[in-house]
Amino acid sequence: MTSDPTPRSSDPAAKLLAEMTLEEKIGQLNQLNFTTLHDDLRGRLAAGEIGSLLNVVDLDTINELQRIAVEESRLGIPLLIGRDVIHGFKTIFPIPLGQAASWNEDVVKEGARVAAVEAGSSGINWTFAPMLDVCRDPRWGRIAECLGEDPWLASRLARAMVQGIQGQDLRQPGAIAACAKHFAGYGACEAGRDYATTNIPENELRNVYLPPFKAAVDAGVATVMASFSDLNGIPASGNRWLMTDVLRGEWGFEGFVVSDWESVPQLAVHGLTASDRESAQAAANAGIGMDMASQTYHHHLADLVRAGLVDESVIDSAAASIIQLKIDLGLFDYPFSYTKDYPPMANPQHLQAAREAARQSLVLLKNEPDTLPIDLSRVDSLAVIGPLADDAYEQLGTWVFDGDPQLSHTPLSAIRALAGDNTRVHAAAGLAYSRSTSTDGFADALEAARQSDVVLMFVGEESILSGEAHCRADISLPGAQQALVARVAELGKPLVLIVLAGRPLTLGPVLEHADALLYAWHPGTMGGPAIADVLFGSHAPQGKLPVTFPRMVGQIPIYYSQKNTGKPATADSFTPIDEIPLRAAQTSVGNTSFHLDAGYTPQFPFGFGLSYTRFEYSDIRVSAESLPVGSSVEVSADLTNAGDREGVEIAQLYIRDLAGSVTRPVKELKGWQRVSLQPGETTRLTFTLGPGELAFFDRNNELNTEPGEFHVFIGGNSDTRLRATFQVTA
Ligand code: GLC
Repeated sequence: MTSDPTPRSSDPAAKLLAEMTLEEKIGQLNQLNFTTLHDDLRGRLAAGEIGSLLNVVDLDTINELQRIAVEESRLGIPLLIGRDVIHGFKTIFPIPLGQAASWNEDVVKEGARVAAVEAGSSGINWTFAPMLDVCRDPRWGRIAECLGEDPWLASRLARAMVQGIQGQDLRQPGAIAACAKHFAGYGACEAGRDYATTNIPENELRNVYLPPFKAAVDAGVATVMASFSDLNGIPASGNRWLMTDVLRGEWGFEGFVVSDWESVPQLAVHGLTASDRESAQAAANAGIGMDMASQTYHHHLADLVRAGLVDESVIDSAAASIIQLKIDLGLFDYPFSYTKDYPPMANPQHLQAAREAARQSLVLLKNEPDTLPIDLSRVDSLAVIGPLADDAYEQLGTWVFDGDPQLSHTPLSAIRALAGDNTRVHAAAGLAYSRSTSTDGFADALEAARQSDVVLMFVGEESILSGEAHCRADISLPGAQQALVARVAELGKPLVLIVLAGRPLTLGPVLEHADALLYAWHPGTMGGPAIADVLFGSHAPQGKLPVTFPRMVGQIPIYYSQKNTGKPATADSFTPIDEIPLRAAQTSVGNTSFHLDAGYTPQFPFGFGLSYTRFEYSDIRVSAESLPVGSSVEVSADLTNAGDREGVEIAQLYIRDLAGSVTRPVKELKGWQRVSLQPGETTRLTFTLGPGELAFFDRNNELNTEPGEFHVFIGGNSDTRLRATFQVTA
């Protein structure tokens, strides 16, 4: 009896694939950067040579592109239209690093949803977000785009972003395909210099850099983008271990991987290959399903298949996953977008969501002695100074291709609105822009301060100083800002610094001058009202740092979950450089892990953030002092609002695995809770620790919980000392 021929799949993607020529399949793998709708493009679309376009945002143009693809090509396959919608489309939310400071999955999810709705209303059906690179080096400009230094926090926010972008059903207007990028390890680029080499041992890759991508895959992310970077000698776009063995083999990812911009031919620039043809071969065989912008697949893949250097099954698999996404998006049924199906851009609800996200992203780093909040009923005049007090463009931050500064509400405008007729506002930029070294404006700024009861100074970075390829070797305040702060401080008025920046800055020189310091990142369209809400107390600050702030750039990398080393520094284990006696004996200054001129602690630790009240943690307990591998333990502690204002606290849970088959960090975030408490109120916090929290990739790079002693900590930042102990037994 002859065996039945393989039944033709009822799978629509497979059925379509079966009708396609090799060239048409390769056409699906080809993404073109849009410039203009010229005849050549029309012809190529009609020939089925293009499966996706990026950087076209006009609805009518996109609908015409879709019409050509659907009506004039042989098989009528619609297009994926991609765009970088990183933290908003028209309504701009805080940069992702700022959103991460909210530690609020709902806020992050809503921001992603609003971005997707506004992008979708322009005909875009795919965004190259979320950016999930863990980063511990604020010299790197792209730290602005990431979700911070910690894999646990980044993983949960990654899930929220994917859910916000993709919604429950990709076929719905306002749901678009997400793209987890840049896979993987990009944030570890040497010296914080973009595109630089990364050398990450597999164990660290698995414990630190991969988890947010795994979280995105588990959340159903439709696509993944390869990183530009060289990973241990094999650049991501040619790295089969990463793109096939891990992503598909271990994680079961069924979508497709898009290269980063021309990262396929860049394999020859890296020196992994010797030509574009070899690059196309290496990338296709590694598992890169779509070639962004380079046309390398278009030029070489058919020939490589005919030469037997790339198996046609590789092309089939990539083309099928791309077609499947188009099916999932409903593009075969509804290839066109209509404004009527979407709410207006930057509508009040969207702006309110951006304001709430900006509020919750603000981190209060200093407030002595309770300089903030400012009671406007008791202040006759305010000085609003600094190059970022009234800059509608700069407050939006990096990656805002489609943002509109006309929509921005700046801090100055918001302060004026709140001050009304009761409080005079004296405004003077002092500097025209953040990098300016001209002191010509100082006199006006100083005069504004002289006339005022309180000084609000808005300093930081222009948006161009962070983002892709915008790295800094010195991360202090640019230009003459430090000098301006020092001059204003000499007047002795209460001085509040509000910092707008795309990264942690080294603030030591200005910190001493500030009575209060509020970190606003680049807060987006509604940054002004959000900052004013917190400065004047209608809303208390609740943000917590998603990244460590170094004292000096020379401390980098410095992050909370560092390994203990064999000679950890302690407060009394070293002699600071200014206290070393002349001709001190070589071993007299301490043989532990520290810098003579910076010590071993950061300016501000991961998880740090003040409120307008005071929170106290006490009475930490574990439900069992010993538990077998695979079981769970409850950890609890009291949290009290010991101040005189209500407040929201992000209570954090950390563990330390004292001894493992590989050395373990001195702390690892494994949970947090957002708690609102009235003055004097106490609540009992309870967390559960189980295999999901205790397991790590062990010496064999297998996910495992190992027996031994664990410390567990609860507190308001990663420097918490409130600790309990339990044993995990074999
Ligand atoms: C860029 C970025 C990537 C972005 C892509 C498309 O070079 O690395 O994040 O999505 O190109 O603009």
